[in-house]
Amino acid sequence: MVAASTTVERESITVAGVRKRYGVKLAVEALAGVDLTVAESEFVCLVGPSGCGKSTLLRMIAGIHQPSEGQIALRLPIGNSVATAMVFQDYGIFPWKTVEANVRFGLEVTGTSAKESRDRVGHWLDRMGLTEFRSAYPATLSGGMKQRVSIARALAVEPGVLLMDEPFAALDAQMRRILQDELLALWQEDLRTVVFVTHSLEEAILLGDRVVVMSSRPGRIIADFRVPFARPRSPEVRLDPAFTELEETIWEQLRKEVGDSERKAR
Ligand SMILES: Nc1ncnc2c1ncn2[C@@H]1O[C@H](COP(=O)(O)OP(=O)(O)OP(=O)(O)O)[C@@H](O)[C@H]1O
Ligand SMILES: [Mg+2]
Repeated sequence: MVAASTTVERESITVAGVRKRYGVKLAVEALAGVDLTVAESEFVCLVGPSGCGKSTLLRMIAGIHQPSEGQIALRLPIGNSVATAMVFQDYGIFPWKTVEANVRFGLEVTGTSAKESRDRVGHWLDRMGLTEFRSAYPATLSGGMKQRVSIARALAVEPGVLLMDEPFAALDAQMRRILQDELLALWQEDLRTVVFVTHSLEEAILLGDRVVVMSSRPGRIIADFRVPFARPRSPEVRLDPAFTELEETIWEQLRKEVGDSERKAR
């Protein structure tokens, strides 16, 4: 008899009881009691009103900031030396370095051998369609190209977790859609653990295995939706009536929080 195979999901990120306060006097409570687990090779999208602590949570997962309370644990795949890499809305690439030098940057920091570095830089330049721009400087590139450089640089270090903070928010609508479709295809080859922050529910549903909704500040997790579309997913999934239905359901949850955060800001 063949034993039934069960999929055991290994967690890649565990966030337990995390709170974050900034400052001492007039302290800002950014996050209030966040619990979240992300399985290995899972793509989790975080949505929530402006200022609810999404970037704060990413920075704590990256180890840039420490929680005021609670714990964050990362479990790295075997043989993996780099825990996280981050892609930001404003690209975060160095204007004084060429495209190629930008992609190589993380490998220099992690002390990767020259041969391995050359191979990986070549691979990611090619995979992101950047080979012919390898000697160009960022100022000469479009926003979409800059963001491809930023993604190539992040993936070249083969991080255990890829953190993306509104990576496509600065792009125009057409370029945004092209990069969404590229990231969808790329992730389905690469199957890396990703935490992706966005204000776009459409983007979250297209890309994510889960869409996690946060409350207005101090941020808590108020809903966690599993996206039901099978992988590999194609961009046409946007046309599925169930897609729009899920978008509406999530928006119902989010609308109240966005209203709350607007009232507090007044
Ligand atoms: N370094 C910091 N020092 C003090 N306060 C901070 C700092 N970083 C963030 N905050 C505050 O913490 C709260 C959460 O900020 P954060 O940037 O994490 O929100 P966000 O959900 O990413 O917002 P947005 O959607 O606008 O990017 C905000 O009130 C912000 O002003
Ligand atoms: Mg943010």
